[in-house]
Amino acid sequence: MCDIWKRKDGREFHAADLERHRESIRTLGVKHVVLTGGEPLLNRELGAICEFFHDLGLRVTLLTTGLLLQKKADVVARGFDDIIISIDGPPEVHDRIRRVSGAFRTLQKGVMEVRSHRSQILISCRTTVQKLNHTHLRATVSAARSLGLDSISFLAADISSAAFNREERWAPERQKEIALSRAEVSELEEEIELLIQMHQEDIDRGFIVESNAKLRRIGTRFREHIDGTPPKAPICNAPWVSAVIEVDGSVRPCFFHPSVSNAHQLTLEEAINSETALSFRSRLQVASNPVCQRCVCSLNYAR
Ligand SMILES: C[S@@+](CC[C@H](N)C(=O)[O-])C[C@H]1O[C@@H](n2cnc3c(N)ncnc32)[C@H](O)[C@@H]1O
Ligand code: SF4
Repeated sequence: MCDIWKRKDGREFHAADLERHRESIRTLGVKHVVLTGGEPLLNRELGAICEFFHDLGLRVTLLTTGLLLQKKADVVARGFDDIIISIDGPPEVHDRIRRVSGAFRTLQKGVMEVRSHRSQILISCRTTVQKLNHTHLRATVSAARSLGLDSISFLAADISSAAFNREERWAPERQKEIALSRAEVSELEEEIELLIQMHQEDIDRGFIVESNAKLRRIGTRFREHIDGTPPKAPICNAPWVSAVIEVDGSVRPCFFHPSVSNAHQLTLEEAINSETALSFRSRLQVASNPVCQRCVCSLNYAR
């Protein structure tokens, strides 16, 4: 579903590059850092990177395929406060989507190994809903339970933005591999209703993170894509409370909007307050912005 793995430059984050941001992290009052990618568990300086953030008192979250969890269990258990594993379905469906035979079994061993180092570490999963798993939502909840995870969260696959390292927006043929047909949207809506009926307690207790309305919104996203109706933008303050830093130093206001500066020469504070960044934030109207209207992964952060 994403093209980040196609990057050829093999660049990775270095712990030394973070030193420049130490003061900024303090003065800006940064609280939480999420390491995503690419695959963070491939980073050769992961331990040092986590240590840098921990020294500053930040919460550190790992977003991973889980394939290397077993091998890196020690550094993960020491370096992260919580883990989010991408799980795209029950075992067979997950393996097919990820195109890795035995991927589910491998991440299962990883979860067990990390828990053997730190039994109480929070491990949740995140499922991107798309063509190949749209009738397997309930089975994915059962799979998350079978792994002993703390929660599961669903989001719709992003089909139309230039995010996820797409050089250009996907051609219609590529979109069709992930998007749902009209009949499949009906099947998804049915699956979501069954999920709500059969798992209301899981929703109420937060094991399934989304509310009923948010779950139903996933079906609506795909329907809007088919009908070509402009979607309603989520309530989001991501550009005002967070920033995305990529391996090449690009600083984005969120995963979906273009870069507004580069943190390779600047401190984080300078980078998020560059002229381009300030002008972007002063002009952005989330409700009417076409990128925001198609956004599948917003942030509404409140202190
Ligand atoms: C890009 S991955 C990077 C971290 C790690 N390699 C992983 O697979 O979790 C982060 C998350 O983005 C999700 N993702 C990838 N392509 C997506 C798309 N087109 N729409 C929505 N989410 C997507 C993945 O499923 C994963 O949960
Ligand atoms: S709604 Fe999405 S695209 Fe718009 S600012 Fe928030 S995260 Fe970015």
